Amino acid sequence: MEKHCLRFKDISVSEKMLYSLFLMTIGIGYLFGLTHLYYTHQMRDGQPGMSIQDVMIAYYGSQDKTRLGSAINGGPMELNLKSVDDKEKILAWLSTGKSKAHFEQDVAPILNRDCTGCHNGETNPSLPNLTTYEGVMDVASSKAASLPGLVKISHIHLFGIAFILLFVGRIFIYSDMSVSLKRIIVVIPFLSLLIDTTSWFITRTYPNFAYVVVGSGAIMGLSMGAQIIISLYQMWFGTRLQLSSEQQAQLKKYALVLQNWTLNGLAISKNYVLKTAPIVWRGGSQILLSFYHLFRYSLHTNLALSDAEQLKARQYTQTLQAQGYQVWFASKGWLVKKSLLSWLFLSSIDDLENYVADVIS
Ligand code: HEC
Repeated sequence: MEKHCLRFKDISVSEKMLYSLFLMTIGIGYLFGLTHLYYTHQMRDGQPGMSIQDVMIAYYGSQDKTRLGSAINGGPMELNLKSVDDKEKILAWLSTGKSKAHFEQDVAPILNRDCTGCHNGETNPSLPNLTTYEGVMDVASSKAASLPGLVKISHIHLFGIAFILLFVGRIFIYSDMSVSLKRIIVVIPFLSLLIDTTSWFITRTYPNFAYVVVGSGAIMGLSMGAQIIISLYQMWFGTRLQLSSEQQAQLKKYALVLQNWTLNGLAISKNYVLKTAPIVWRGGSQILLSFYHLFRYSLHTNLALSDAEQLKARQYTQTLQAQGYQVWFASKGWLVKKSLLSWLFLSSIDDLENYVADVIS
């Protein structure tokens, strides 16, 4: 087996140069990525510097901070505001009852000038729509990260990082070391990437999962860093680390411990999966139904509502909200969220009326 596997000593210098530049570029890119994370999240809790609170607020939200407030107060959208006074005006509105009259007078003009170029529901439908009071209230009251937003980042994140890990791992496999250790180091970044992304979603509901987000993110970074450094070292400074037999035995011991942990972890997750499978099954059919509704939503044409209908719609929405449902009105109709997995699309005011009647009875 081993004989057929190439090692760094078997590859040409130009190949090594190519790999080295690739690994270094990825390493630098990763550092920029971390810096970007720092700038986007560090001020979320109002304190400079990154803390676990920042991560909790990013996904779970916070009792006294709204997504709009966080976005313009130290968040990534602050730079879009033309003056500091405007920020104070919006924050004042957020903290004093958020009435519609106050909104029209103080807030709407600012948003129309600085924000609706992007946040208009048309240019980029996945961004919060800030052209209407309802749209703004959505980010002024809902606190957790939005589900569609997270789904969007997750798919980009997984596709992108999987490729990086594939290439970095492929190069790392040329290195010369204990095979079991190598197998583990190749698997860890992928596992932690998956755990990290899954925990974003869980943190929306359970803020303490922020620790898992940070922990798995850190493990991914460290293991990828280890792959890069080991590869670069072996490429240019010798094909094998000079280890005494004692050190090798030590390393083997660590590798075994790691292997045990991984196996135990897998066993535990297997139990967990078996236990949760029925719940997931029920959830799965809910999700399919919800997708069907979201699909219908995406195909539907815009609604034209008379003033009277708008008034009625608002009352229905409030009734549903009082029952604990979340309701969004977009120009095509109403999206109703009953629970995390259960969504519904109502495409006309009559549908909405019938649904409300159902819920109340
Ligand atoms: C150049 C386009 C652009 C402009 C102008 C802009 N935004 Fe954004 N906004 C975005 C993008 C892209 C995102 C999603 C990326 C992200 O979450 O960082 C976003 C996200 C947001 C979010 C959601 C943050 C969250 O919690 O997910 C809020 C709230 C927001 N913007 C408010 C504003 C406000 C208020 C203004 C005006 C002061 C503004 N934006 C101006 C592009 C823009």
